[in-house]
Amino acid sequence: MNHGKKVVLSAVQPTNQIHIGNYLGAIKNWVQYQNDYDCLFFAVDLHSITSGKVIDPKELRENTYRAIATYVACGIDPNKSTLFIQSQVPQHAELAWVLTCNSSMGELSRMTQYKDKSQKAGAHIPAGLFTYPVLMASDILLYNTHLVPVGEDQKQHLELTRDIAERMNYNYQLEGAKTGEKPLFVVPEPMIQKTGARIMSLQDGDVKMSKSDPTAGACVFLNDSDKEIEKKFKRAVTDSGTEVKAEEQSSGLRNLLQIQACILGEEYNAVLSRYVGKQYGYLKVDTAHIVINAIGPIREKTEEILKDRTELDRILKVGREAARARAEKQLNEVYKRIGFIRE
Ligand code: TYM
Repeated sequence: MNHGKKVVLSAVQPTNQIHIGNYLGAIKNWVQYQNDYDCLFFAVDLHSITSGKVIDPKELRENTYRAIATYVACGIDPNKSTLFIQSQVPQHAELAWVLTCNSSMGELSRMTQYKDKSQKAGAHIPAGLFTYPVLMASDILLYNTHLVPVGEDQKQHLELTRDIAERMNYNYQLEGAKTGEKPLFVVPEPMIQKTGARIMSLQDGDVKMSKSDPTAGACVFLNDSDKEIEKKFKRAVTDSGTEVKAEEQSSGLRNLLQIQACILGEEYNAVLSRYVGKQYGYLKVDTAHIVINAIGPIREKTEEILKDRTELDRILKVGREAARARAEKQLNEVYKRIGFIRE
C-alpha cells in the first residue's frame, strides 16, 4: 500500500473467541506500526480448520467477522492497513503448495506446536496440523514481509519460514543474476514483545492461555462481560501462600503481575513492588479491574461494528482487492522462477 516502507504482517485464527493472550501478545502491538510501516492484518480462516474438528459453518463465519471487527475496535485503521480474510485471497493456498514441496517431513515434525497438538489428537492426526506452519510461511512470504509481530509461541514457525525462504532464494535464483542478487523472498524477522508475549492460563500458570483449552476460567475472552472477567480473576490459581513476597512468585502470581505490567506499560518489578506484603486477593481484584478497563471499550466497539455488516463487507472488499493484487504479483514471480508457464 505504501511504497518504500517496510512490510509488517500478522494474523489471528478465528477459532472460538479472541482472548487477552492474543490481544496482549499480538493485536495490541499492531496498532503502533500503522503509521511507519506498510501493514497487512488478516483473519486466518484456512488455519482454523486444521484441528480436524468440523466447525459449525455459521460459527466460523461469525467468528471471522468478529475477528475483523475486533481488529478495527482495537485501533486497526482500514485506511492505513490492509485488512482482509485469508481464504478470500486464493494465492495463500497456492503458494503454500509450492512451499510444501520445498519443506521436509523432518523439519515439520520438529515443530513443538505440532508435537503438542498431535499428541492430543489421538489416533487421527489431521494432515493439516502437520502442514499448518507451511501455510503460515506462505502468508508471510507472499507479501515480502520484513517484520512479523507475534507472541512467543510463534517464534519457531517464524524460524521455519526463514529457513524455507533462504532455501528457495538459493534454489530459485533469477536467471542471469549473480548469486544472492534479487532474491525471491524477503527473509522475515519476528517481533516479540518483552512483556505479554506469553500470557498463561488463569487455571495453570505453567500452561499458555489458549483458545482450545477446555478448562473453565482458563481463558479471558475479549467479549467476556465485566462480571465474567472479575469472576475468572477471583478464581485464578496462585499457590498455597497468602501474601505476595518480593523474592519469589509462583507462575500464577507472575502471570497476574505480567498482565498488569503489559496493560499499564510498566516494568514487572514496578508492579510487583506495589503488592509486596499484600494478600493475593488484592492483586486478583486489581488485575480484573485493569483488564476490564482495557478491554471493556474494545468489547463495546466490536459489538457496534458487528451491527453494520454492509460496512464490514465494504472494508473487506477493499482489503482483499489490495491483497490479491500484491499476492498475484509475487506468486507470478515464484511460478516464473520455478518454470511454470503463465498465461
Ligand atoms: P493464534 O491465532 O494462535 O494466535 C494469534 C496471536 O496471538 C499470540 N498468542 C499469544 N500471545 C501471548 N500469550 C498467549 N497465551 C498467546 N496465545 C496466542 C500468537 O503468538 C499470535 O501472534 N499461526 C498463527 C496465526 C498465523 C499468523 C500467520 C501469524 C497464521 N499466519 C502469519 C503471523 C503471520 C496462530 O495460530 O496464531
